[in-house]
Amino acid sequence: MSRIKEAKKQQYRVTENKQAREIAFEYLKSYDLEKAIEFGLPEVDDRYHIWRVPLKSLKGETIGEVTIDAITTLVNDKKSSQKDVLESRLLGRKYNKEGVKSKSNGQIKPKVSSLKNTIGLGDSEELLAQTPSESVDLVFTSPPYYNARPEYADYITYEEYLLKMRKIINQCHRVLNDGRFFVINISPVLIRRANRSEASKRIAVPFDFHQLFIQEGFEFVDDIIWIKPEGAGWATGRGRRFAADRNPMQYKAVPVTEYILVYRKKTDKLIDWHIRNTDPELVEESKIDDDYEKTNLWKIHPAYHKIHPAIFPLELAEKVVKYYSFKNDVVLDPFAGTGTVGEAAVKHNRRFVLYELSPEYMEIIKSQAENWLQGQAKDINWINVEHNTANLYLF
Ligand SMILES: C[S@@+](CC[C@H](N)C(=O)[O-])C[C@H]1O[C@@H](n2cnc3c(N)ncnc32)[C@H](O)[C@@H]1O
Repeated sequence: MSRIKEAKKQQYRVTENKQAREIAFEYLKSYDLEKAIEFGLPEVDDRYHIWRVPLKSLKGETIGEVTIDAITTLVNDKKSSQKDVLESRLLGRKYNKEGVKSKSNGQIKPKVSSLKNTIGLGDSEELLAQTPSESVDLVFTSPPYYNARPEYADYITYEEYLLKMRKIINQCHRVLNDGRFFVINISPVLIRRANRSEASKRIAVPFDFHQLFIQEGFEFVDDIIWIKPEGAGWATGRGRRFAADRNPMQYKAVPVTEYILVYRKKTDKLIDWHIRNTDPELVEESKIDDDYEKTNLWKIHPAYHKIHPAIFPLELAEKVVKYYSFKNDVVLDPFAGTGTVGEAAVKHNRRFVLYELSPEYMEIIKSQAENWLQGQAKDINWINVEHNTANLYLF
């Protein structure tokens, strides 16, 4: 084996049959097919750094395979058998590539999700794995902050952080409907110097995320700049040295903006097609009034919360919800924090799916949900959350 291949092999995170089977099991579970399908013997292919897990019907016939990237542990969707193919083969039918056609005009219609408002406590990678494919119409989120200082870091290295984010983007791609949008609020991260002999650094997180979106099957649509009129409080110390000395090369701009990056799940359908094939009443009711943002520079005051350090303003979430989804659509935030996206969704008659890891922040969501929903909180699908709707009514 060449040295390069050997070096790549050292990076494998999937090294055993058992791990490959477990990943394939989760893939089948996301299709609700885990009880109908068994596995053949997984094999590693060192040429492409992948594992192939053969899929068999309970009668023992081979009906497909799951392909797993040995380094990232991600299932390669394009090279794995899809749900409709597996279902057809299980039923012994020939697979019809054109899928379900509407009776009226021979065209495939956009899917209408049956998800109800959902709030889940836990790692969104795991919660998303249990979320049905193509059940969400918009993702709007801002990811957890990468902090390189070992005493605070949740991620051992920046690469580990990006891999975790990639896995979540990968799942979001699966749960997002065809041609729908993933909008992300993100900005470079300042790594403060550990001591006086070191320099502080900025990591260009948005540009690394861009790569992840492209790798996971999204196309780039827009870069919106959110400008905070009074600046970003945490960063104001950045230009201090230059302000005092005015030496060239010491210049550092004080950041007062964040990115709102807009991606679309790759599709062969035009946006016009979505509008033509969505319930005309919903399209009419979702029209945006005259007072909309005309350029990619959005001036919005930042928001602060006494418990959560990094919330985005409701106004920002409302704009994204209005501009990129229709009424009755399902809006997902896999890093929900205090649940701002949920509040914006309800305000504009959309449904929401909120996943949050921290029990402390979940308490905030719990206490707010009844306010947003005005008596309808009992209909929420709670996952891993102890809740008592009777108590919720007290807020
Ligand atoms: C930047 S904050 C989002 C704040 C939110 N936009 C708001 O307005 O309240 C990111 C959130 O992601 C959560 N988080 C981090 N890792 C997570 C994971 N693996 N699964 C779910 N939530 C996670 C953090 O606890 C944090 O609340």
